[in-house]
Amino acid sequence: MTSIIRNDYSLLAPGPVNLHPEVRAALAMPMIHHRTPEFDQILKNVLSEIKNVFQTEQDVFLLSSTGSGGMEALLVNTLSPGDTVIAIVSGKFGERWALMAKTFGMKVITLEVPWGEAVRVADVEDLLKKNPHTRAVLCQACETSTAVAHPIQELGQLIHPLPETLLLVDAITALGAYPLPMDQWHIDGLVAGSQKAFMLPTGMAFVSLSTKAWKFVETAQCPRFYFDLRKEKIANHNGETFFSSNVAVIRALEVVLRLIKEQGLESLFHSIHRRAEFTRLFVQKLGFTLYAKAPSDSVTALRVPPQMDGQKIRSHLEQVHHITIMGGQDQAKGKIIRIGHMGYIQDDELLHLLKSLGYTLRSFDPDFISLEQISTIADEARLWLEQNP
Ligand SMILES: Cc1ncc(COP(=O)(O)O)c(C=O)c1O
Repeated sequence: MTSIIRNDYSLLAPGPVNLHPEVRAALAMPMIHHRTPEFDQILKNVLSEIKNVFQTEQDVFLLSSTGSGGMEALLVNTLSPGDTVIAIVSGKFGERWALMAKTFGMKVITLEVPWGEAVRVADVEDLLKKNPHTRAVLCQACETSTAVAHPIQELGQLIHPLPETLLLVDAITALGAYPLPMDQWHIDGLVAGSQKAFMLPTGMAFVSLSTKAWKFVETAQCPRFYFDLRKEKIANHNGETFFSSNVAVIRALEVVLRLIKEQGLESLFHSIHRRAEFTRLFVQKLGFTLYAKAPSDSVTALRVPPQMDGQKIRSHLEQVHHITIMGGQDQAKGKIIRIGHMGYIQDDELLHLLKSLGYTLRSFDPDFISLEQISTIADEARLWLEQNP
């Protein structure tokens, strides 16, 4: 065991996240077989309840893969080699989806968006006009590497009237964290990841397709076996999964879906928004500045003070204060830190994070911020939490 595995350890990354105690208890239960009446009931319940988080009437599929497998499932089930797709690339995960589409032989038109910015819908519209045979637009709901939220509702409005084009959305760091009603916003393919707002261990992807996307499935020529949603659909309608079910995680998912139902989706979104607001307000007071121009509620990226190194801040926070956040990747490496707002997070953890970040800055430069300043900011922050439940 490393030193960070302690009772006061806080996992405030943009996934994986702190698990709810009831989820931890569910994960510790004895294993059961997936062909049992007990598991049949759990699967039936989960397949029905998860639609509420997707806010869809469509089937939602539970894939035993990380989120990237779900991204692949959306591509291979709806598209063919040679198809033109527009990939919105505003960070690491946009790059990954573009590369994946190229790997499956698609003609990828990349719409590069500067890191930290959201895509302009007018730019997508222009590209679609120039490339009327585009079969899909690929976009992250939240580009986790920059903590930007893209305008998915507006993209849905743009693409919905085009019968030959789908809007495929990677909502791995978004679904369950803030509103993304699949049917209402005309999202044709949506993928979520277990280790994010679903507050589960890493290792499952959840995907759904619109009626329009199911029409594409009929003609899609991409080879697919493990991620064949047609077979998964038949299996689900027979009360099972296509391959062995991920019993432990699906059983924990049942708990999460019950907790979300009890809390209410709106209230869940509010609690995540509140943590994001808290971070945007008070961590900036310590001397960090907001990196994303269209900040997501699921994760906040903050530029570190010019003379500091984000990677060192991240390591110090973990080793000394037992809090894990993330640093930046590629061009943002060393320049930013990223704090996740999903999962089981208590107000005390937010205050602990705030103070620890202040102490961390002091440990690198005692003149940067005084103990009195940290204490004043923490007092204000405590009051804010009390006044903004
Ligand atoms: C937006 C986004 N897309 C895709 C992924 C990849 O998910 P996974 O690592 O579960 O395959 C991540 C993971 O952090 C992500 O944040």
